[in-house]
Amino acid sequence: MADVVVLGSMNMDLVVRTRQHPRPGETVHGTDFVTVPGGKGANQAAAAARLGASVAIVGRVGHDDLGQAIVDNLRSQGVDASRVRRDAQRPSGIAMIVVNDAGENTIVVASGANGAVSVTDLESARGLLSEAHYLVMQFEIPLDTVRSAIDMAAELGLRVVLNPAPAYAVPAGFMNGVFALVVNETEAETLAGQPVTDIASAARAAHVLQRQGPQVVIVTLGAAGAYFLGPDGEQYVPARRVQVVDTTAAGDTFVGGFVAALLMDLPLGDAVRYATCAGTLATMRLGAQTSIPRADEVQTLFERGEIALT
Ligand code: RIB
Repeated sequence: MADVVVLGSMNMDLVVRTRQHPRPGETVHGTDFVTVPGGKGANQAAAAARLGASVAIVGRVGHDDLGQAIVDNLRSQGVDASRVRRDAQRPSGIAMIVVNDAGENTIVVASGANGAVSVTDLESARGLLSEAHYLVMQFEIPLDTVRSAIDMAAELGLRVVLNPAPAYAVPAGFMNGVFALVVNETEAETLAGQPVTDIASAARAAHVLQRQGPQVVIVTLGAAGAYFLGPDGEQYVPARRVQVVDTTAAGDTFVGGFVAALLMDLPLGDAVRYATCAGTLATMRLGAQTSIPRADEVQTLFERGEIALT
């Protein structure tokens, strides 16, 4: 039995570091090349598990070596991957990631098997879902599967945490039934249809988004922290300044940390603060799942405001 079910993407990330991102048509030298398990769904599942939640993942990988490595890695992190389907027609998802000296990334995803995650996959996980408390999703699988899952969650009494990344416009009513929406600035802009550049504009967008259905809207603001709007009010949560190595999966770690914190029965404001600590620490290491901090590292920042990465 799992408290959290993640319905989402699993990728293998091919990561190269370089001083500066190339412009179109330009070739630049890279430094390190690493292969790191990634995918927004898998990252969020791994983060929630590392931070103490019991987690299962539902999705697809290819019938290839990368697919096996992705599943093995999730299992090694304590994530129940028994509902991950091996797709015989499509390759495993991969992401080409380039990280510059400032820790900024560009990511190109070839979805592969993630693009075939279907309502049938969801139905086959009904038993798992009926025992869970939270369903966590992103936008790296087909939108109609996500929408059907929101309906199933309502039927089974689960809370949905939706991280609509990468963002695109959704039909009216799509977010009805979502408990918490977690968006970064660009995702908030896309879904709210207005610019988000600072705390005030994040607050304005959050009010627009809350009217679209979610009870809670969290706008993550990168190094500036996060803003949230809930049923009982709104608040800005600052982030601790750190030496950024790579921002990849910081948002995913935030989402995983948020759900783990809710399962620890932290009130909403503290859950957002805990998630902010987790996301901040994830920027200090290279890669997606390689950057997710341990529970003791997050707890030290959350309780004492101290960075103690080991
Ligand atoms: O959010 C980061 C993730 O986006 C990467 O791990 C990559 O696989 C893409 O899904």
